[in-house]
Amino acid sequence: MTTTIDLTRGMPPASTFPTEDLIHCCEKVLRRDGHTLMQYGRSPGYAPLKEWIAAYHQTTPARVFMGNSSLEIFAFITQTILPPGARVFVERPTYDRSILLLRRAGMHIVDIPIEQDGVSLEQFEEELKRGVPRLVYLITDFQNPMGTTTSLSKRQQLAKWAEEYDFLIVEDGPYRALRYKGEQPPTLYAIAPQRVLHLSSFSKLLAPGLRVGYMVGNEAAVSKLTEWATNTYIGPVTLTQGMVYEYCVSGLLEKNIEKLKRLYAPKLEAIQAALQKYLPDVSRTQPEGGYYVSLNLPESVRMDALLANAASVGLKLSDGRGFFVNPADGERFLRIPFCSVEPEDIEPAVVRLSQLIG
Ligand SMILES: Cc1ncc(COP(=O)(O)O)c(C=O)c1O
Repeated sequence: MTTTIDLTRGMPPASTFPTEDLIHCCEKVLRRDGHTLMQYGRSPGYAPLKEWIAAYHQTTPARVFMGNSSLEIFAFITQTILPPGARVFVERPTYDRSILLLRRAGMHIVDIPIEQDGVSLEQFEEELKRGVPRLVYLITDFQNPMGTTTSLSKRQQLAKWAEEYDFLIVEDGPYRALRYKGEQPPTLYAIAPQRVLHLSSFSKLLAPGLRVGYMVGNEAAVSKLTEWATNTYIGPVTLTQGMVYEYCVSGLLEKNIEKLKRLYAPKLEAIQAALQKYLPDVSRTQPEGGYYVSLNLPESVRMDALLANAASVGLKLSDGRGFFVNPADGERFLRIPFCSVEPEDIEPAVVRLSQLIG
């Protein structure tokens, strides 16, 4: 049997990590600012990096909150900004770990179907009429697991409703900078800075092991999170933030993003071409960036059987049901994280998939 092709996790290939540059940045920043970086921070986050992020998002450092990954900040949001039992809207499907965190915090989760251009506004409005949410969790750019992007008109309507009905939106955007084609709409945060908490990190643009994530949002949210973080662990790890800062101010981040785009864009082309060739009748999303393309498999497919039989054709697949609040809705859903697949494995992966479901 040929080697198994793993289509489970959305991880960057290890070959993309700029380790030598990071060693250099680590040494440079420690020599320059070691006393600060080795000390407890006074408020969460390394100030120079906060300033850099604020400039990137055209805002002020007082609106930036740093954490050990964006996921940790989302966990803090569920613990501080939302009361237990709060009504929270998410996309259907959505990032599995966010569902888990909302569940763990005891939220009442309502999922709203997503279309090629973002969440369905008709369904959203219907749910709004049933009850106003405290928070809406959206992945607006290159959604995980769908690969779709919320259109500008939908962003504007969602921002309008947030104002009108008085709810917050968490915009989770770790893939935003990885656009391979098409036009970039503004972030929801740029449209409604008082209503939107924008999460992002350096996991997909540099290396996830650094665990450097951030939120840009209103000052009231930043101060609540700051208090919570301080009472949890005083502050997040500053050394990796120092490394990231050095990396960014040296102009290396931009170059790395360009390098990643050159690597990933052909993978997206290749997966789309292979899907068109070997599975032309299976409906799929048309991402313009990010990590994922997703398939809506034929009626005959059952997830348990699919997962059990995958090994026989040399594939490892992720359980689509994990991305749904109601797992049964994901019985025929498949996410393909094309970025983590080696270029030469892309076509064979789709051929094997076609054998499995054909
Ligand atoms: C939508 C989304 N949010 C957050 C994360 C986690 O990012 P971080 O490494 O910053 O916690 C991921 C990672 O796959 C993701 O897809």
